[in-house]
Amino acid sequence: MASSSKAFTVLGLETSCDETAVAVVRGRPPGPGEILSNVVHSQVREHRPYGGVVPEIAARAHVEILDDLVAMALDQAGLGLGSVDAIAATAGPGLIGGVMIGLTTAKALALAADRPLVAINHLEAHALTARLTGGVGFPFLLLLISGGHCQLLAVEGVGRFRLYGTTIDDAIGEAFDKTAKLLELGYPGGPALETLARQGNPKRFPLPRPMLGRDGCDFSLSGLKTAVRQLVRAESLDVPARADVAAGFQAAVADILVDRTRAAMLRYRTEIEGGRTLVLAGGVAANRAIRSALAALCSEQDFSLTVPPTDLCTDNAAMVAWAGVERCALGLFDDLSTAPRARWPLEETASAGS
Ligand code: KG4
Ligand code: ZN
Repeated sequence: MASSSKAFTVLGLETSCDETAVAVVRGRPPGPGEILSNVVHSQVREHRPYGGVVPEIAARAHVEILDDLVAMALDQAGLGLGSVDAIAATAGPGLIGGVMIGLTTAKALALAADRPLVAINHLEAHALTARLTGGVGFPFLLLLISGGHCQLLAVEGVGRFRLYGTTIDDAIGEAFDKTAKLLELGYPGGPALETLARQGNPKRFPLPRPMLGRDGCDFSLSGLKTAVRQLVRAESLDVPARADVAAGFQAAVADILVDRTRAAMLRYRTEIEGGRTLVLAGGVAANRAIRSALAALCSEQDFSLTVPPTDLCTDNAAMVAWAGVERCALGLFDDLSTAPRARWPLEETASAGS
């Protein structure tokens, strides 16, 4: 399919987990794009008493606020609905109630404004963010590390992904959150764990590094989490000891990520011409210890490292609107009968891609 040099303005909606987000982005591939507005309402307060995301509460909170956020995003962009070229919304994967609300709202807006709908895979939106922010060209190697997903992929184009590795149990963000819970750091625990780890000694408690040095690029984190649980049960830990556990856990995760990403780089080199860039995406990319470990790996392996700004690594709608821009440029629109999907592996977007 021919790509177009026209700039597109796209309204994007994101409701797949616990952030309700709406944004307007203008641009053309390969980017960078211009973020005209980007509003995010985090539901952390609603879910905190339960120590995790409660799907029913998430869905209700999306319904309550989404229309207002759409109005706010258009207002901040200084545009009416009639001025956008398309309406993009996350159509999966994610909590089905939330995805349904965002997609249905996008369909109603598309119908009202007589604009096309673009159904976005949430993972593809994370994957393409580095083009929105930095105009990164295809191909690149992607390490997606979030609360729900943990994957290494070669990204060759829109809808063109090769899955190199994935977690066989917990996602990295999930492991951070569960470990933080064991250390009584509240919810969501990733950022709090990173802060505590700064004061800790990563060598005091030697923790396992599952799958290190194994063939392939898959991850495993449940053994590490179990080791932390046993440690916490066995000893009553004072604050300095908890900081040492946090530092030890974070160091183990960094080692696992470096080892698996190195394996992916070696495979990528043999399969893909050019594009020696590692792109990070997902909420855990905000973690500075992990970033610096991966930066060191990139200099060792002669890759450059691209990390979008933190507010665009965590869930947001600017990435959804940008994925909409990329798909508009390829003429890839979706029917109003498109169904929301709780599960939607990236490789299954392939048939829609260029
Ligand atoms: O991408 P994201 O906003 O949502 C998902 O799609 O999952 O990622 C959220 C995840 C949470 O598990 C959170 O604890 C983790 O990212 N996270 C971090 C940090 N900031 C967010 N984990 C470790 N260190 C951080 N600084
Ligand atoms: Zn996400």
